Amino acid sequence: MVVPGAEAPASGPSVADLLREGIDRLRAAGTERPRLDSELLLGQAAGLERTAIVAHPERTVDRAAAAAYEAAIARRERGEPVAYIRGVKEFFGLELHVDARALIPRPETELLVELAARQALGRLAARDGSAAAEPLRIVDVGTGSGAIPVALSTALGAGGLLGAVRIMATDISDGALALAGSNLAAHGLADVVALSAADLLPADPGMFDLVLANLPYVASGDVPHLPVDTSFEPALALDGGPDGLHVIRRLLALLPARLAPAGVALLEIGGDQGAAIVAAVVAVLPGWACRVEPDLAGLPRVALVARDQAGIAAGPGRIAGQS
Ligand SMILES: C[S@@+](CC[C@H](N)C(=O)[O-])C[C@H]1O[C@@H](n2cnc3c(N)ncnc32)[C@H](O)[C@@H]1O
Repeated sequence: MVVPGAEAPASGPSVADLLREGIDRLRAAGTERPRLDSELLLGQAAGLERTAIVAHPERTVDRAAAAAYEAAIARRERGEPVAYIRGVKEFFGLELHVDARALIPRPETELLVELAARQALGRLAARDGSAAAEPLRIVDVGTGSGAIPVALSTALGAGGLLGAVRIMATDISDGALALAGSNLAAHGLADVVALSAADLLPADPGMFDLVLANLPYVASGDVPHLPVDTSFEPALALDGGPDGLHVIRRLLALLPARLAPAGVALLEIGGDQGAAIVAAVVAVLPGWACRVEPDLAGLPRVALVARDQAGIAAGPGRIAGQS
């Protein structure tokens, strides 16, 4: 347990010495952020907040903590991501358990959650006054650690809207589903999100108002050239086939049967796939609409796909303007 102001043990090496050694070793190993990684790993090993590590370099830690830190630095030297070593990753301001069963959630994916929340709010606002309306049906395809449904449910729950939605999440990997299950339980959402093992969409033939997906989108030939950290993540989470869009194209092909008439699909893509996803929609879903939203870096990141322009434009502003 992390105790920010806990009394420093009298013996053992100092924080400053341990950090210096860790930083030197990680720098020599070619790690991109040796100081940050060392601080996080020492904080984890010593049960201290990173702020306490930074503010009190003179404090000492006990020998068991120093040994745990040494082991963590050795793992990081071999390229293992800090998130896997610590077992946690922050996503959308929430703490998620992560391990090698699933992709480490990326900050870019927070845009998908924001857009999904906006789409859900807009659609629910449009139903105001119609008490008999069916719940909004949402599915997250390829949920991995469960990052998207945990974050989206938390956002909708803060607005008291969980009763108005039905959320499902799928993955083809049993390991990922088990991890997603523990993250949903840890956030009190086990009864809110239904998990199911599936190749893309659940077998149940129902339709969805929102289809969300951060599926693998790295071209197979690029996977071996990704940073070493990613070699610790499941290939199933990364490899998107010859041009990176193979799995996404398979999902597009399912939309005519599984996306509700006014529904929208939000698909995360690679920063160089903006034109390619538009071409894929034209090829697989002729006549459908597609708009690509950029991320904070200005790169194409989330494709919105719907039967028509109204479907991809739907959001709170537009809905509020409707009568
Ligand atoms: C890029 S990871 C994303 C994980 C999570 N959605 C996130 O954003 O952190 C892609 C996920 O899709 C899953 N996946 C790959 N192919 C799939 C398929 N055909 N059907 C369902 N899930 C699939 C992988 O197992 C992996 O968990």
